[in-house]
Amino acid sequence: MKKKFEKFLWQLYAWVYDTVLLRLLPYRELQELVGGGLSPEADWRILDAGCGTGNMLVHVVCLRPGVEAVGIDFSVAMLRRARAKIKGDQGVIFQEVDLNHSLPFAGGEFDGVVCVNVLYAVDDPAFLLQEICRVLKKDGRLLVVTPSVQPKMSPIFKEHVRRLRGKAPFLWPIMLVGQAVWTAPLLLVFLMINLFIQRQQSFHFLQGEELCLLVNNCGFTVNSMKKVYGEQCWFLVGEKPGQGASMCS
Ligand SMILES: C[S@@+](CC[C@H](N)C(=O)[O-])C[C@H]1O[C@@H](n2cnc3c(N)ncnc32)[C@H](O)[C@@H]1O
Repeated sequence: MKKKFEKFLWQLYAWVYDTVLLRLLPYRELQELVGGGLSPEADWRILDAGCGTGNMLVHVVCLRPGVEAVGIDFSVAMLRRARAKIKGDQGVIFQEVDLNHSLPFAGGEFDGVVCVNVLYAVDDPAFLLQEICRVLKKDGRLLVVTPSVQPKMSPIFKEHVRRLRGKAPFLWPIMLVGQAVWTAPLLLVFLMINLFIQRQQSFHFLQGEELCLLVNNCGFTVNSMKKVYGEQCWFLVGEKPGQGASMCS
């Protein structure tokens, strides 16, 4: 029952997700950071685990045309929106996959994997990271973004206003009111879903050291970690060690 409700919630989230987030400057910046952090070569095959409406993957593919990309998510509504963003010849596919089960890929299939704001929501983050480690090539790159403990939306909105002021020093109040009025009903739904997410006891919001240890224990080396997205999320770049050093096969 709880699982069914959770899944329903992600379907509902899909309805409001892009309308709110794609207007939010810190989310736009997160797309840039993910693209820069992964920085794939043109011949890479990459995976977005929990791709949602495809924003991260589409951004990466636009930055580096030629990469082959696979986005997976269990929400049909999210995937429908993701597919609508892709033109036929872009080398991107989206698949319905539940990240609580083994990933439907062979070992070492990918050069890079991104997992943005998803790890907290799966049943067992260690299981997902081990699966990601399995499907990554040796020396493959891992990029994880995940909320820190007690994440809040208000610092993200404050960051949005700060950036908007920088972009449009005179017009920002008008732009802000316009955005708020335009998105009001969907913004309300968005905020309610976020409140639910923040209070969900079964979700995994991690301290920095916990995340670092978890990623290490699942077979990766951690190259860098910092706070992003209004300081509400960890941004971790790691890799699967080469030459037999990795703990996973
Ligand atoms: C906050 S959204 C993030 C989407 C995207 N990564 C982004 O950054 O825009 C979380 C996504 O995780 C997906 N998700 C949650 N649990 C999942 C699971 N067990 N299997 C597959 N996808 C899952 C949801 O459907 C949703 O699309």
